[in-house]
Amino acid sequence: MSESLSPPSIVKSRPTIAIVGAGVVGLAIGWRLAEAGCRVDIFDSGKAGMGASHAAAGMLAACAEAEPGEETLLDLNRESQRLWPAFAAELEAASGLKVDLRESGTLVVALTADDAAKLRHQHAFQKKLGLPVEWLTAAEARRREPHLATQLAGALWCPEDHQVDNRKVAAALKAAALKAGVLLHEDAPVTKVETASSRRGVMVGGELHKADIIVLAAGAWSRGVDIAPVAPLPVRPIKGQMLALQMDPANPVLDHVLWGPGTYMVPRRDGRLIIGATVEEKGFDTQLTAGGQLALLTHAWRALPTIEELPIIEQWVGFRPGSRDDAPILGPSEVEGLVYATGHHRNGILLLPVTAKVMAELILEGRLDPLAAPFGADRFRPRAAAE
Ligand code: GLY
Repeated sequence: MSESLSPPSIVKSRPTIAIVGAGVVGLAIGWRLAEAGCRVDIFDSGKAGMGASHAAAGMLAACAEAEPGEETLLDLNRESQRLWPAFAAELEAASGLKVDLRESGTLVVALTADDAAKLRHQHAFQKKLGLPVEWLTAAEARRREPHLATQLAGALWCPEDHQVDNRKVAAALKAAALKAGVLLHEDAPVTKVETASSRRGVMVGGELHKADIIVLAAGAWSRGVDIAPVAPLPVRPIKGQMLALQMDPANPVLDHVLWGPGTYMVPRRDGRLIIGATVEEKGFDTQLTAGGQLALLTHAWRALPTIEELPIIEQWVGFRPGSRDDAPILGPSEVEGLVYATGHHRNGILLLPVTAKVMAELILEGRLDPLAAPFGADRFRPRAAAE
C-alpha cells in the first residue's frame, strides 16, 4: 500500500462523516459510526435500501458460491458469514425489528449425470479449501427436501450457508441508524465529491456539505459519482432478473436454500419463494424479459416441479455492483478523507457485517483489517513498468 493510502492519515477522534449511498452497506457503516459518536449524514439519490439491498435474495452462501481463483475473497466471505448471527442479533436489538436470519443451510442439486460430474468437481475444490460441504445421495437430498425432482443425480449439503431477509435487514438498518442519530437524506443525489482539504465534502442540490471523511458506498451507481481528480471506480451494474412465488407458509414446498442448474431458490418464513437470478451485461436496463423470466422458471421447475401451481407475486430487476475482478472495493482511496465500500457484486448481503466492521475500524482507529487489505482500490491502478 502506498504512503498516501495509509489508513492512519484519516484518523480523527470523532470525524464527521458523509456517506454516499443508503443501501445496507452505507446504512450499516453509518449506524456503527453514529453509535461511536460521529456525526453521520447519509445521502441517497432515491429511498434508503431500495437498490441492490431490496433486489437481493439474502443468501449467505460463502461455501456454495466458492469459485477457483477467489480464495482470498473466500476468507473475507467466511469471516462475514461467521459474524452474521451476532450482527443480526445486535441489529434486531438496536432496531426492534426482525431480520429473519434462517440458519437452515443450503442444498446444491445435480439433475443429470453431467451436472453431478460438475458438482463432484466443485466438491473436490471445496474440500481442498477445508469448507464444510458434504456429498449427499439423491435419497439423502430428498429426505431433506421431499419435493425435489425425481431424476436427481446427487447433491451437496452446505450446512453453514444460511439466508437472511435482505429487505428486513435494510429496514432494520435504517431504523437502527436513525435511532443512533444518523441524518438520512433521501432523494438527495450527490453530484460531486470534493476532496481538497479546505472544502472536503459532498455536493448535494448545488450545496457543499462538508465532512472529514466521505464514504463512497453507492453500489452499482458508484461510478456515476464524480470524484475527480480521483479516477472513477471500475464498478458497473450487472443486471439480475428475479421473481417471487407464494407458498403456503404452513406447508412450504421448500425449507432450505436450493441451488439447481441455472437457478437458486430462497424460501422465506412468510411463504415467499424467491427465484433468481439472471446475469446480464445490459447497464441499468430495468426491463423484465420473457426470456429471462422463462429461463428462471424453467430451471426452477426442473429442480422443484411442485412450483408449477404457485402464484407469481412479484417480478423485479436488480443491479449487482460488479468490479473488474468481481471482488469488493474496500478501504482508503488515493486521496485523504475519501474511502470506499462498494463493488460487492454477488455478495453484498453476505459481506455486510465484515464490511461495516472493517470500515468502522479504518475510520475510527486507522486500522485496516488484514482480511480487507487485498481489496483496496489501488489494485486497479496501473503499475509502473519497473514494478
Ligand atoms: N448472490 C446471488 C446473485 O447475485 O444473484
